[in-house]
Amino acid sequence: MQPPLIKSLILVVDDITKNLQVVGTVLRNEGYKVMPAASGTDALKCVRAQLPDLILLDLLMPEMDGLEVCRRLKADPLTQAIPVIFLTASNEMEHLVQGFEVGAVDYVTKPFNPPELLARVRTHLELKHARDTIIRYGQELSRLNEEKNEFMGIAAHDLRNPLGAITGYAEMVLEEVGSLPRSASEPWTRVAKEVTDCTGRIHETSKRMVEMVQNLLDANRIERGEMKLNLAATDLGPTLNQVIETQRPPATAKQQKIHLESESVPVAVLADPGVTVQILENLVSNAVKYSPPGREIFVRLKKNAQSVRVEVQDQGPGLSVEDQTKLFGKFARLSAKPTGGEHSTGLGLSIVKKMVEAMNGKVWCESELGSGATFIVEFPAA
Ligand SMILES: Nc1ncnc2c1ncn2[C@@H]1O[C@H](COP(=O)(O)OP(=O)(O)OP(=O)(O)O)[C@@H](O)[C@H]1O
Ligand SMILES: [Mg+2]
Repeated sequence: MQPPLIKSLILVVDDITKNLQVVGTVLRNEGYKVMPAASGTDALKCVRAQLPDLILLDLLMPEMDGLEVCRRLKADPLTQAIPVIFLTASNEMEHLVQGFEVGAVDYVTKPFNPPELLARVRTHLELKHARDTIIRYGQELSRLNEEKNEFMGIAAHDLRNPLGAITGYAEMVLEEVGSLPRSASEPWTRVAKEVTDCTGRIHETSKRMVEMVQNLLDANRIERGEMKLNLAATDLGPTLNQVIETQRPPATAKQQKIHLESESVPVAVLADPGVTVQILENLVSNAVKYSPPGREIFVRLKKNAQSVRVEVQDQGPGLSVEDQTKLFGKFARLSAKPTGGEHSTGLGLSIVKKMVEAMNGKVWCESELGSGATFIVEFPAA
């Protein structure tokens, strides 16, 4: 036999003193602490004075019966989680269903068989202990997560301004050098070229860092429910055109073609226009980023009765079933790698998913490894 959960406090409720004594002795002999109560009212008073770990509750009692006591305990958030085991005579079995309905976890029949009583008590104490531990860990985890998010938020926020300054100064240097009068001297040309190259790289890198920091800030803001959305009727046709035009230069650099198949009539959805651009840019830029050079990308706009879909289909490497389960998680950098040296933080789709869901939409991916991927966003129609 395992040792009992020492010092567990058990409330025993029965209007028959003899039963209280018998059960009390069995439990005390096993090392438990026992709190006896002779009526329903008495039981509720005891519970308020000290929360027990488990309650053994007589089903039939005068005045307030066990069912009513149990109902009240389960209605109170403070006592809700205490397991209740009913004590019943074998001729009261028909009440048992009600007992379970009001929230009991088990029952023991009178006259008591001590080993059975102890086994049930131990099981439910262990279960409660395990449940309490899980809840405690859960609370601790969400506290730590909150702390981590706060730290990330502060770090990202404090990094954004200096990075912005670096980007700005790099732009200034590039402009200054570009506007200097050309000199015929060979060393001067060499120096000017080197300065331009290095400053160009500083500019590119710091811009990428600003984007990363902005992604982190976005992810945090959404997670904390601090993202402000301005939902309005938004025509997706021009929005998609705008997104595709910004993605065309990087696609062309990889000899990729982006095709748009859309309806000629306005297709209005209820969405935040700026956030919608961000969502679609993420999907189209992923198609460009993960497809090999020379492939084609198809963007389709489809209208249904209640909703509007945007599909972004690529001819890239596709995703395995396992990768698909991780796709919308944070920092998911999966098997597919950028094909043109682009940057990847694995945050884009996690932000997309949160943004889409905040606007009452859905986003998912349909893909088979080796056969390209299709990302589908569904917006509620305006
Ligand atoms: N169209 C696609 N085809 C194949 N794999 C993809 C595709 N889009 C995304 N993935 C995979 O999913 C991962 C997560 O994508 P996600 O957009 O969240 O992040 P990312 O592109 O790596 O970085 P960023 O934060 O810059 O968007 C990618 O690293 C890539 O492995
Ligand atoms: Mg991405």
